[in-house]
Amino acid sequence: MVREVYTCFRKLSQIVNVIRASLVSGFIGGNLATLALLRHPSAAMGYIQYGLFGWRFISGQGLPQSHFHELFATPKYVSIDLLPTIGYLTYWDANYAKDVFYLALLGRVLSPKIVFEIGTLQGYTALLFALNTPRDTIIYTLDLPPDDLCSPSLPTTIIDDAHITAHAHSTEYLYRDHPAGTKVRQLYGDSAQFDFTPYHEKVDLFFIDGAHSYEYVRSDSLNALVCTRRGG
Ligand SMILES: C[S@@+](CC[C@H](N)C(=O)[O-])C[C@H]1O[C@@H](n2cnc3c(N)ncnc32)[C@H](O)[C@@H]1O
Repeated sequence: MVREVYTCFRKLSQIVNVIRASLVSGFIGGNLATLALLRHPSAAMGYIQYGLFGWRFISGQGLPQSHFHELFATPKYVSIDLLPTIGYLTYWDANYAKDVFYLALLGRVLSPKIVFEIGTLQGYTALLFALNTPRDTIIYTLDLPPDDLCSPSLPTTIIDDAHITAHAHSTEYLYRDHPAGTKVRQLYGDSAQFDFTPYHEKVDLFFIDGAHSYEYVRSDSLNALVCTRRGG
């Protein structure tokens, strides 16, 4: 009897603790933190954006999620090559590290012969693919030309505009410093206007990482589908 009362009491106090923690740190703490950011609009935007992103992620909204090994036949042990001192692995946000990990894993597990990437920026992911694919793989990577002669033909987001400005005039790609970078072929053009015909049904792994507006993601996805070979 005493034991049952004790167990019941423990369960009750656990429930009370969860409610208290949710109220204090989640609801009150979260909102107080937002108030403190009122004088710093860009930090406040970041707070809201990451909060929403995290919530959508853990609440399972958006596209259905699957584990990598459920989609691709994956050996129990796989070695991947990473760039631990530059780029995304040095960001405080762990989401980027996860992206890098899975892109490298895709390269290793699928062993693609032809990779096509839309969105080079500094060439980080192009080099990542170069490091994690067979010796004879070719990585095509497409970006807007660095000379401002070609601007986006479809609507873009604020983040796209920031990326495009960051990319403008810079051709100091990371892959140029690495021997595996010889596998990379740089292409220039607006992905919505680019002539993808030579790549139709040739690509084993197509990575879309250009502009993020609905119009661009739709257009890039349709091009990716016609470029990807059967089984790619
Ligand atoms: C998210 S960054 C790519 C990051 C890169 N994949 C990496 O992780 O190393 C997006 C890139 O897409 C490029 N981009 C934006 N709009 C584009 C377009 N319409 N056509 C081609 N590239 C575009 C930007 O210039 C920018 O370099």
